[in-house]
Amino acid sequence: MTTSTADKGLEGVVALTSSVSSIVDGVLTYRGYDIDDLAENTTFEEVVYLLLNDDLPNQAQLDELKQQLDQERALPAEFLAQIKHFPKTALPMEALRTAVSMLSMFDAEANDITPESNRRKAIRMIAQFPTIIAALHRNRIGKEAVAPKAGMSTAASFLHMMHNTDPDPVAVEALDKALILHADHELNASTFAARQTVSTLSDMYSAMTSAIGALKGPLHGGANEQVIRTLQRIETPENVAPFLEQALAGKERIMGFGHRVYKDGDPRAKHLKKMSQELGKMTGETKWYVMSDMLENAMVEKKGLKPNVDFYSASVYFVLGIPVDLYTPIFALSRVSGWAAHVLEQFGNNRLIRPRADYTGPISRHSKPISER
Ligand SMILES: CC(C)(COP(=O)(O)OP(=O)(O)OC[C@H]1O[C@@H](n2cnc3c(N)ncnc32)[C@H](O)[C@@H]1OP(=O)(O)O)[C@@H](O)C(=O)NCCC(=O)NCCS
Repeated sequence: MTTSTADKGLEGVVALTSSVSSIVDGVLTYRGYDIDDLAENTTFEEVVYLLLNDDLPNQAQLDELKQQLDQERALPAEFLAQIKHFPKTALPMEALRTAVSMLSMFDAEANDITPESNRRKAIRMIAQFPTIIAALHRNRIGKEAVAPKAGMSTAASFLHMMHNTDPDPVAVEALDKALILHADHELNASTFAARQTVSTLSDMYSAMTSAIGALKGPLHGGANEQVIRTLQRIETPENVAPFLEQALAGKERIMGFGHRVYKDGDPRAKHLKKMSQELGKMTGETKWYVMSDMLENAMVEKKGLKPNVDFYSASVYFVLGIPVDLYTPIFALSRVSGWAAHVLEQFGNNRLIRPRADYTGPISRHSKPISER
């Protein structure tokens, strides 16, 4: 047997340089600003500006970005007509992956990879992801898509287009914070997929399609959906301890715990935990927070594993009444901003990403005529 020298899962491998976000000693920063500071003191649109530029915007810069987002939110009518044909049973993440890929064919500058065009497309896609996700959801429940209204934040606009009502300010504030916390995360799997895609000088839509495919998996963005499904399986607070004992004995992976980079806790989790507790109290639906807190304590005690960003975002979205299979698409509607920033950075200093594999298969074989095999 041959022993491979490869780093399985590329753990610890530094694949490129980036000035978008960093994780150092368990502290996550976007362009040098601590995520705690951004979560407490900024809005998602300010973070979008920060990721696409070098610094937070002043008022005029923010107003200009919001105006651009307003102008770009609507989707082409023909595109909306096409996505109506998607099967109603399609998972929102597969529908989103296909829709984003398809949208490229409705964008006259989809294949223009000049910096100016890429920047325009970055803003366009950040603006359009909420519209696409809301339209896909309304299609599958047999309702007409809702046109975006100008003057709304990304969080408010998404909730408005989902429910066709004026969104609740508490829900808008919670979602806005969740979007800030999910916007970027150094060289995570989906961001790497996006960067690798454009390293071939492919286009922004292809990058986003690759990224959505990578985000979909339960070891990455798909974990938040699985968290709520786990809590639903547990059903009651009394069942938390026996459930965990049995699950760990069966070598089950408990979604929403552990992280490749953070070994002493994910800095985003505490914000979502606080939100989960507050929203639970506000709505009177405290069960999900209570069970989550118990599961966290039990996981720390039994496995020494702490919650990651997906763990408490699940109970936040659940209490906000968001359908479970939209949790990962919501992750995408935030992370598209980080993907876009990384794609612009990749184009700005590109070299084809093409690693090597340590070959471990048989060697020196010779083919025989087919009749002798
Ligand atoms: C995120 C994750 C993929 C990172 O994993 P990683 O760095 O590749 O670590 P590994 O998968 O090699 O796991 C290392 C050990 O911890 C255990 N472990 C890691 N996460 C675990 C979890 N959530 N539940 C139970 N055990 C876990 C593994 O079973 C393994 O144990 P072993 O050495 O006895 O086999 C992993 O923690 C995980 O699967 N978490 C659940 C999915 C999730 O929440 N993803 C969202 C991440 S933001």
